[in-house]
Amino acid sequence: MTDSTRRDFLQTSVAASLLAATSVSAAAAAANDKPATRFVSDHQHTPVPLPFDPQALNGISEKLVQSHWANNYIGSVNALNSVRGKLTQALSDASTPAYLYNGLKREQLLRTGSVILHELYFSNLGGSGRADAELRSKIANSFGSFDVWETEFRKIGQGLGGGSGWVVLGYNRTLRLLENYWMADHGTAPIDTTPLLVMDMYEHAYQMDYGAAAAKYIDTFLANVQWEAVAKRL
Ligand SMILES: [Fe+2]
Repeated sequence: MTDSTRRDFLQTSVAASLLAATSVSAAAAAANDKPATRFVSDHQHTPVPLPFDPQALNGISEKLVQSHWANNYIGSVNALNSVRGKLTQALSDASTPAYLYNGLKREQLLRTGSVILHELYFSNLGGSGRADAELRSKIANSFGSFDVWETEFRKIGQGLGGGSGWVVLGYNRTLRLLENYWMADHGTAPIDTTPLLVMDMYEHAYQMDYGAAAAKYIDTFLANVQWEAVAKRL
């Protein structure tokens, strides 16, 4: 092999190695959905399947759970993805009035809340309803006792019965407290708070099984809480 042939061979090999490395990196980035370079306007949310067997809940029918997931949750995912596209279109059109743009931003806020709250709700169901001693103790440290926590959580839910809203046990990072929060809709979340246990109080969450008997639904919800998921969030 002459010097010039050896140089050409080395240059070709290095180029091939770089190309291969680039391809591997690109594939890895694609598999991770390129979070560092993805624009918010391009984001499309992928629905999360039910994390439990819908036949296995105690006192909440499979029909209700499937309907809740397929209609209310998936409906919000589809609407959120659609609104994101319409926001992009509206922003690129200089003639879009600001009040119309903000109408879409309001819808984006509500749909984002609905999607995330429903995912938290479904993933804190499917359990035994029994919190372990460590978690009960942590909750008691903020409320005085676990029973006080449960009394207030139920009370907030009963107050939302027949209407709409959410009850959320959350960890407030500013106050360094676990607190129960009343939320009138998907857009009214407490600031700087991690949601730990989420209960859907919209009528669609119970009407099919319990009619207007919201208190019975609350009993059933608490009997099916997946406390292990709550502990992980905490
Ligand atoms: Fe719901």
